[in-house]
Amino acid sequence: MDNKDRFAFLAEWYDPTACLLRRYQFFYYPNDNSVEMFDLKNQRTFLRRTKYGDIHAKDMFVGNRVNIFSRQLNLVDYADRYTATKLGSKKERTLALIKPDGVPKIGDILEMAIAANLMVTNAKMTHLTWSQAADFYVEHQSKLFFNSLVQLVSSAPVVALELMGDEAVSVWRKLLGPSDPEVARREAPQSIRAQFGTDSGKDVAHGSDSLAAAARELEFFFPTAICHGPPNTAIYLDCTCCIIKPHAVAEGLTGKILNSIAAAGYHISALEMFNVDRANAEEFYEVYKGVVIEYVDMVTELSLGPCMVLEIHGTDVAKTFREFCGPADPEIARHLRPTTLRALYGTDKVKNAVHCTDLPEDAVLEVQYFFKILDG
Ligand code: TYD
Ligand code: MG
Repeated sequence: MDNKDRFAFLAEWYDPTACLLRRYQFFYYPNDNSVEMFDLKNQRTFLRRTKYGDIHAKDMFVGNRVNIFSRQLNLVDYADRYTATKLGSKKERTLALIKPDGVPKIGDILEMAIAANLMVTNAKMTHLTWSQAADFYVEHQSKLFFNSLVQLVSSAPVVALELMGDEAVSVWRKLLGPSDPEVARREAPQSIRAQFGTDSGKDVAHGSDSLAAAARELEFFFPTAICHGPPNTAIYLDCTCCIIKPHAVAEGLTGKILNSIAAAGYHISALEMFNVDRANAEEFYEVYKGVVIEYVDMVTELSLGPCMVLEIHGTDVAKTFREFCGPADPEIARHLRPTTLRALYGTDKVKNAVHCTDLPEDAVLEVQYFFKILDG
């Protein structure tokens, strides 16, 4: 990168206090990793050029969300031709739909996507109705297999994922492999459909086949307007709440963590990605305020980027799942309980891979906080 490089973006930040969408020119200087912000409405500098350690050149592309001093900024456009030409190359988003037969393999599937440099930027488990599934597959309306396809996709929960990366549309379809798993096993034995698929109906997952299809299919599951996409699958009964923390998501550990959870026999009854802002993180962790010395750092960590929230379902699950997460401090966990999630995936007491509900009586409330209130 050029020493004098300066990248310019149009950035939006939703100000929850004023209920206003604020627009800024956002500048990033890669040579000293500094940022600068200019308020477009008031036409004045909002943040003078400041070094900022928590941001990296690889985060700089349109469509990404960056965290600047606890504000989540959406980079909505390139603000000059130079930036657009230099950075705007091939980043794409695509819709990956894990079908009912693929859901038990979601950990492996995410690991493969992440290894192929695709970033999970949104995720939601949902149970489509027949007519929602028919809408989604409307292009196949006239095909003989339409009814069985719609029936299968609406038979049990699916997980919709927004994947982002260089040439995401074709990279994800290449990972999927040929449509028919039998063919895939011959022609692309490492592909997702070859490894986990059954036949041309049970083909594990779907991928948008063009940028236009991706735009339509992403809008279907993750609408940009106030209206809601298909609902989440939380049941708020015999459950506990698990949050895969932002640092673990950023480190690409989601697939591995989901695999460990499944291998331990836990059933995931809801899954969704959230961007928690600071005010909500404070509210969620309120009970730890003044009790745990890491409270402020925990709030910062939870609001630093997307997290993946799970509802885990089962009898007495709050107690057993908490033991499976292990001691809050990963160092201690590695000594005492080396097979726990925090021992395996945590860094320190704040970046300890997962949050889980502490007291069984809080479990439903924590699950509701995400799947009812923040998803509301
Ligand atoms: P298609 O668009 O051909 O495959 P791809 O997902 O690779 O773009 O088919 C869409 C879905 O229709 C496919 O995921 C599975 C289902 N299908 C059947 O059930 N039977 C069939 O014979 C075919 C061709 C597809
Ligand atoms: Mg297709």
